[in-house]
Amino acid sequence: MTGITLWTHARLAPTANPEHILENATIAVRDQRIEWFGDSAQLPAVYQSNSTHVHSLGGALVTPGLIDCHTHLVYGGNRAEEFALRLAGASYEEIARQGGGIVSTVRATRAASADELFASALRRLDALRAEGVTAIEIKSGYGLNLESERKMLRVARRLGQERPVTVATTFLGAHALPPEYAGRADDYINLVCEVMLPALAEEGLVDAVDVFCERIGFTLAQSERVFQAAERFQLPVKMHAEQLSLMGGTALAARHKALSADHLEYLDEAGVIALRDAGSVAVLLPGAYYFIRETQLPPLALLRRHRVPIAIATDSNPGTSPTTSLLLMLNMACTLFRMPVAEVLAGVTTHAARALGHPDVCGEIAIGAPADFVAWNIQSLAELAYWSGLDRCTLVVRHGRIALD
Ligand code: NIG
Ligand code: FE
Repeated sequence: MTGITLWTHARLAPTANPEHILENATIAVRDQRIEWFGDSAQLPAVYQSNSTHVHSLGGALVTPGLIDCHTHLVYGGNRAEEFALRLAGASYEEIARQGGGIVSTVRATRAASADELFASALRRLDALRAEGVTAIEIKSGYGLNLESERKMLRVARRLGQERPVTVATTFLGAHALPPEYAGRADDYINLVCEVMLPALAEEGLVDAVDVFCERIGFTLAQSERVFQAAERFQLPVKMHAEQLSLMGGTALAARHKALSADHLEYLDEAGVIALRDAGSVAVLLPGAYYFIRETQLPPLALLRRHRVPIAIATDSNPGTSPTTSLLLMLNMACTLFRMPVAEVLAGVTTHAARALGHPDVCGEIAIGAPADFVAWNIQSLAELAYWSGLDRCTLVVRHGRIALD
């Protein structure tokens, strides 16, 4: 037997359930996957005699690797000036209607070189990784033409090659109307469906397809056309839905068996039931809720009543959620949304894995799963959500190798 690594002396929380900590546990890893885990006293003899490497985790609390299932990590510039305008009273929607907002980041992203985009996104990625993130979704959507969307998605792929992190890419060509298509939204959707998506999918740059369905984004009919195009390439879909108003996008996304519908502050019960029936995940984004000073809470009671899996993500982006801390999002989901700790932890592990839809990511410490886990310098799982700012991550293992220490 070759290539076994034993990770010993763990206080193991194999799932998001704070009740189930296995004291003095060992994880046995072979070929990047978990082959066995459990009480060290019950370690099968075969590992005791033939193990090649043994690493003590020193009694640290160990969880699955964290998953950030909704980000816009790659973009040019930032929007600190727009932040100042909003502090002076302008709303996110007003700024967007006046040609600022997403479109201002489109200008900066088109002007940036791939290396510049890579360097700025890498900084943000490293900040997320320093907090135990082992898998991340990265959207395009600030290029809004073939060349610049391709540039963004290639940068996203390169991030996954140059850092030990699983990157799932999402094509968000239908994020905003680029200025050159003003007044011609349907023509732009043609471009997205007939030119951009086919070319980018052909290059293997697209793992999923997203749409911003909103008054300042795209209509239901336009969103549906993008979903139909995605289906022609057998790509799963997801949607920015009901963020600023109730458009009915969630029900449309559910009809197309979306991986997830995201934001959802204005979602109604019919939409919640549609998500449940489709098996889609509700992705809540407390950073965006906080940063645009939203007051409408997502319908948590309804999501729980209908047993829709809930994920939590950073939405890391320059306009509505300029954050690089998934742990802070846990803290905000607890305080702002009144979510219990176990629920937010499932939101960045098991449920986030479902929303990511990546075959290599499962969000649990389980036999046969990729060996992605994090050692934390804390006593209880609640401390992941309780602190804001304290450095708690001591070691990250991804696919069986040390990814950060
Ligand atoms: O998830 N809502 C649309 N997209 C982003 C914001 C993008 C931006 O403002 O740059 C979001 O909130
Ligand atoms: Fe977003």
